[in-house]
Amino acid sequence: MSTPRIFVVTGANKGIGLATVKALCEAVGSESIVYLTARSVERGTKAVEDLAKSGLKPRFHPLDVDDASSIETFATFLKKEYGGLDVLVNNAAIGYKEDAPEPYGVQAEHTVRVNYFGLQAVCNALFPLLRPHARVVNVSSSVGHLSWVNGEELRRQLADPALTVEQLDNIMRDFVKAAAAEKKQHVQLGWRDVQYAPYVASKVGVSALTRIQQRMLDQDPREDIVVNHCHPGYVKTDSTGNKGVFTAERGAVCPTYLALLPPNVASPRGEYVWHDKVVLDWVNADLPHPGY
Ligand SMILES: NC(=O)c1ccc[n+]([C@@H]2O[C@H](COP(=O)([O-])OP(=O)(O)OC[C@H]3O[C@@H](n4cnc5c(N)ncnc54)[C@H](OP(=O)(O)O)[C@@H]3O)[C@@H](O)[C@H]2O)c1
Repeated sequence: MSTPRIFVVTGANKGIGLATVKALCEAVGSESIVYLTARSVERGTKAVEDLAKSGLKPRFHPLDVDDASSIETFATFLKKEYGGLDVLVNNAAIGYKEDAPEPYGVQAEHTVRVNYFGLQAVCNALFPLLRPHARVVNVSSSVGHLSWVNGEELRRQLADPALTVEQLDNIMRDFVKAAAAEKKQHVQLGWRDVQYAPYVASKVGVSALTRIQQRMLDQDPREDIVVNHCHPGYVKTDSTGNKGVFTAERGAVCPTYLALLPPNVASPRGEYVWHDKVVLDWVNADLPHPGY
């Protein structure tokens, strides 16, 4: 019997993550195992039970991307049970609403911690388990495109093909520090003056990180491991107050496509992919209109 292919989706109890699990279960057949992970055992188990009613059989495992011990427990479990991993969809994220009462500095620290550092922590724990031809999808956003950064020097740093993870971490920490300061000093660093700047910074970080990750994986002895970042579209989910233009199923189209890229695909590799599967230059492209 051949080793089953193992798929993992983070933040998958609802929204685009749940729809991605559903699409993957429908696409891959019973010889593969799809893990629906969620930070809440109750919400995750309920989602798995609901999918079972349609004949789909994902498995559940708890995973809080904001909790180092939860990440380590999951990595240990995958290694022991399967010895590796074939597909990772980093979907989990948070965003504060416009009228959120929390101080801006708290919002900035929390958002960057979960969306950027949490995703990175999951990658650090699970990348050693990736098997040859593995596929990783980092769910970014339209606002994760470099054109959402105003400052020329900040854009230059983020676009630098020699940017390191350490330098990018520092850019994220500097954003958080500046956003927490009086008069929102992050704008002087080159970030946009919008209420949801923490979400923008976290997603720009995810996208910049993806480019570095692909560079590192290209040097890896394991064959053909590909990581891409995508904008799933403006999707009706809790995170948008159900104001999007797409269903969650439509939002899952691009992440699912990237998760299932065939072996030795020439492109996309380390690229920014729009919801309609079109590759956009992360540094130089103008975003399509409308920008979602
Ligand atoms: N919807 C859009 O228009 C849109 C546009 C661009 C990008 N995106 C991106 O698409 C992805 C999915 O968004 P969505 O719209 O489906 O949002 P959503 O419905 O709010 O779902 C977000 C998911 O992330 C989970 N999550 C939050 N913090 C977590 C943590 N610490 N550990 C594990 N899971 C955690 C949530 O779990 P709980 O239920 O426990 O909170 C939930 O399952 C996100 O990366 C988002 O930024 C969405």
